[in-house]
Amino acid sequence: MATPTIVTMPGDGIGNRVLPEALRVLDKVGFKANYVHADIGWEFWCKEGNPLPDRTIELLDKHKIGLFGAITSKPKAEAAKELIPELQDKGLSYYSPIVGMRQRFQLDLCIRPCISFPGNPLNFVRRGVDGKLEEPYVNVVIFRQNTEGLYSGVEWTDPPKEVRDALGTHPKFKAFADVPGPELAVSTRIFTQAACDRIVGEAFKYAKKFGYKSVTICEKPNVIRETSGMLLQTGRKFQKEYPDIELWNTNIDAQMMWLTKNPDDYGIIVAGNMFGDIVSDGFAGLVGGLGFARSANVGKKVAVFEPTHGSAPKYENLEPQIVNPIAMILSACMMLDHLDETEKSAQIRKAIGEVIAGGKIRTYDMLKLPGGPDVVAKGAATTEQVTNAILERL
Ligand code: NAI
Ligand code: MG
Repeated sequence: MATPTIVTMPGDGIGNRVLPEALRVLDKVGFKANYVHADIGWEFWCKEGNPLPDRTIELLDKHKIGLFGAITSKPKAEAAKELIPELQDKGLSYYSPIVGMRQRFQLDLCIRPCISFPGNPLNFVRRGVDGKLEEPYVNVVIFRQNTEGLYSGVEWTDPPKEVRDALGTHPKFKAFADVPGPELAVSTRIFTQAACDRIVGEAFKYAKKFGYKSVTICEKPNVIRETSGMLLQTGRKFQKEYPDIELWNTNIDAQMMWLTKNPDDYGIIVAGNMFGDIVSDGFAGLVGGLGFARSANVGKKVAVFEPTHGSAPKYENLEPQIVNPIAMILSACMMLDHLDETEKSAQIRKAIGEVIAGGKIRTYDMLKLPGGPDVVAKGAATTEQVTNAILERL
């Protein structure tokens, strides 16, 4: 296979601190790639009025694979104030470069594995009937639709007349017909069959590739009949091609309750944009939270791999650095899986597992300490020490 070129986008804050750690690990495991740096984030908003410059889009378009750290976002009014004087009053409006990338490249699948590492002190524990504590092994991969649903941005406060009229054709809108315009807010939840086919199809493929025994559609089809119903029907359609994989159907609310009762029962979970956002944060909390949560944004042509966490600006300039690099390193493992370098990613995950099980090297989050410059004195490992321990085991 030709040597891939990876577009590295460290972005803001701790993105700049964790991404280089992932590169050290990729190098050690013998992954051969060319890396090109691309600009993204707050600095480019302030200096150029665009947090996702065209040159970055061109690089992603050309090389197809992005490894991304994190960015800083601020509310629109605050963002406008931080523009350089030359760009003030140009009517520029801040937008999230992550959402920008997802839309520009139709990164319609968001894949978020939530898998426990035995020995992680942040793992969820529950009490069994005998009164003893049990630590269920969670091995769930969430497939969240990334471009449609409630986050597609088709929404109004005081909807225009045509929209009101169209809504008025639905008998259930009668209950809202007399609400004055400025007091009426509407956010639409749009699902398309093409997007449902794609996410469910990819979820089953993934289940087969990595040996999961079930695919769960996690929605609310008994109430949100049209959109949730479409995803569930699509699940039924695809399951016929995979007789060895069971199709389950849960409601998002019940799923959040079962999260703590039987998280070990689930395999692949498929959900629309918002429910996928919710359920993936829920499962991530069972297996260590932000220091461990990784994700892939996958389109048909371009894929971008990133930790779920943000730029944690308050830690950016700490020396030594204290944040957990594991979420970033695991995101790089997802990139290896995507490139069919599954043996290398398995080696890295095994090394991470050994470091965690060893119990000696633990970042402040794993020690449940409040973050700050004093955590190293209290026994926390630095970011670099965690990576070094992983490298030693490779
Ligand atoms: P955050 O994820 O940056 O930090 C929240 C807290 O989680 C931190 O204070 C820290 O205690 C902990 N944390 C985060 N990453 C960690 C790591 N690797 N190891 C150990 N602990 C870690 O979210 P916050 O504070 O809400 O947002 C900060 C900035 O990041 C904002 O500007 C926000 O818009 C942006 N953000 C960007 C995201 C992205 O780039 N994907 C996602 C979420 C927030
Ligand atoms: Mg979220």
